Parts: sequence; C-alpha cells; structure tokens
Amino acid sequence: MGSVEMSSAPSFTVTPLTKTANEKHNFGAVIEDVDLENISDSNVKALADAIWTHKVVIVKGQQKLSPIKQWELVTRFDPEAPLVHSHGDLKTFNKQGGLLSRGRDVYGVPGAENVRLIGKGHQGEDHFGLKNTTINKELAHLWHNDKLPDEDFEAGHTRFQRWHIDAPLYARDPAWFTTLRCFKRPTKPEVTIHWDDGSGLTMKSEPGLTAFFSNVQTYELMTEEERKIADHSWVEYAPHPYQWMGECKSNPTGLGLVSQGKEKTLEDLSPYDEKSVKRYPMVWVNPVTGEKAFMVHGICVRRVFMRSSPTDEPEVVEDLVRIREWLAKIQERVLKPEYIMLPQVVEGDIVMWANYQMFHTAVDYPDHWGARTMHQANIGASLGPVGPVPIPV
Ligand SMILES: [Fe+2]
Repeated sequence: MGSVEMSSAPSFTVTPLTKTANEKHNFGAVIEDVDLENISDSNVKALADAIWTHKVVIVKGQQKLSPIKQWELVTRFDPEAPLVHSHGDLKTFNKQGGLLSRGRDVYGVPGAENVRLIGKGHQGEDHFGLKNTTINKELAHLWHNDKLPDEDFEAGHTRFQRWHIDAPLYARDPAWFTTLRCFKRPTKPEVTIHWDDGSGLTMKSEPGLTAFFSNVQTYELMTEEERKIADHSWVEYAPHPYQWMGECKSNPTGLGLVSQGKEKTLEDLSPYDEKSVKRYPMVWVNPVTGEKAFMVHGICVRRVFMRSSPTDEPEVVEDLVRIREWLAKIQERVLKPEYIMLPQVVEGDIVMWANYQMFHTAVDYPDHWGARTMHQANIGASLGPVGPVPIPV
C-alpha cells in the first residue's frame, strides 16, 4: 500500500503541452516530479484523473522503474479488474490474436509477463533477462491495400499504420488506459507521414513515435443530426474480431478498411461464446470530465443498431459498405495534421493515454535507422464503456 497522505492534491506537476497557432488538437500534458517506483495511492488516483482530463500524458524521468512496478501501477489504476493484460495471456494472444499477433514477435518481460516488449530490431545483450533478443516484425504498412513502394519508404516516406484503440472487443473490456514506456528509438532523420489518399496531406515526425487524435474532437466535429444518432446507437463487434477481419486490408491512411468481402464467416472463426460478443455504445462518456467521445472501432464492427432517440426501434445495419461509409465521413474529419499529435518521448518517459477517448497508431521507419524498445502494459477494465443513454443488451 502507498503512504498515507493528508491531502488528495497531487504532489506532482502537470503542464499542458503548448502548441503552435496551426495546431487544433486539445489534449496532452507533461507530468514531472513523480516516482512511479514508489507512488502513493492518492497520487495513483490523481494520475488517473490527469489521464482522463488531458487524454495523453507523458510522465518524465522513470529511467529506474522496474517492469513489475509498471504492471502494478496499471493494476492500481483499476483495482477491481482481473489481473490480466487486456489481450489475455501471451499463449492465447499468439494463438488467437489474428491480425494483431500475425507477422510480429510479442514477448512478455520475464517476471512481469503482462508487460509486453514491443518495438523492433536487436534488444541488447540482456534486456531484463531477455538475452540477445531481436524483434522481427513485418513493416507496418504491409496491411495497407495499396502498396507503398520500398524505395519511397527507404527515403523516409511513411504512413500511419492502423488507427485503433487497444481493445480485444471480445470477452474482456478494453483497458481504460494504456501505458507505453520508452527505452530506445532512433531520433533522426525525420520521416514524412503521407496520407496517400489523394488529399496530398503530409506531416513530419521524428521516427519511432506514436500518433494520437482525440475522439472528443471527432464528436465536436459531428453535425447535430450525426450526434443524435451516435448518442442513441450502438455497434456489435464480430466474435474474435481480429480473426474475422484478419484478411482485410486498410485504406492508405490506416483509418478504416477497404471493403472487399474478405471478412471471415462466423463458422470459420475459433469457437466463440455468444455471451462474450461485445455491443458498445457509439459514444463513450468520460467519467471525470463528462466529455463525449465518438468511439467506434470501425475495422471490427459487424453490425450497427441505429436510432435517434431512446424510444426508436433501432434499424439493424449489416451492410459493411454502408457502415464503413458512414463512419469514414465522420472519422476522416479529424484525420488532419492539425488534430494529430505525436508526443516526443525519450528514454525514461512513459506515455499514458485514455484509451476510451483516443485513437492511436504506430508510424514505421526503415529498420536500418535503429532498434526500438518499448514496454506496453494495460489491463482489461473492470467496467466497460458507458454511453450517454443506456443501450439494450
Ligand atoms: Fe495500440
């Protein structure tokens, strides 16, 4: 247990990130003067509140943190949650993870298996007991339907991999937060992220970073009519959703699938339990700020239940082309450089985000620019997303 404190005021500092006049994203803060190796219960609560409030926080100066303490922090954020990573144990994940586990190695850190080593390249002679480990993964944009030529990629032309929330969307509820600790990444040269969708949009970034946009802002950009539907409607995710869409390809922006009829039939999936199929509201309410976020993980949606008031009979939509077109119209509005932010994490930083409010994605860089080493941990939540109005389940 943490130390007893007389006040619930945090003893660390929270500094909202500054932005230029052209930037419209409204999230992000830097947290300093906290030692996560030895953090009190009241500071854990204050840190959780800061994540809900700022959506993405960069906790500085955690070079000495032991891996098990990252996992302990994650469990203390949600003490009622079962003690397992949101994607389950490694064996299950590697067997049933579909798109998420294919084409890459996923390691647990010895002694703290729920902390996942992610990145690429050689991880050093002894990384917390992992000896001379090299992480092999396929290039992030191989998932895109229209191919990025290798020579363009080698010249620093890259893309967003896959905009997503960290969520199994089957059996366990998504983690409230994800924590991602940076050990190592190349810091130069810059990559140029291209939309490659005909818009001509690009943005520059250091390599090895994670990109974010806020679905609170997505909600703010919706029309009154769209919000009325979103507030009262819900989606049903496929059973084993990443198997179901495991053969599908994405748009070049990494947001949304190309509809080619490659989804598996329910009979082709691993055995599943109807009770574990997830139906979630389209809008998720922030428990600390009350903000609404449009949180639909479109690539895994199998059916949508649409209505515009609590008493409407919902229209059940199973036409994936129609569902995806409706989602794209809304979600692509926020997919603009001015709403996207890539926190500049360095060794010792841990970025933590409100997974119930944000979309995030990796951005790949050429292997020979250097290795990347990160520790990721989150926990399947004790309470799933809550919408503005109850949905029948
Ligand atoms: Fe992720």
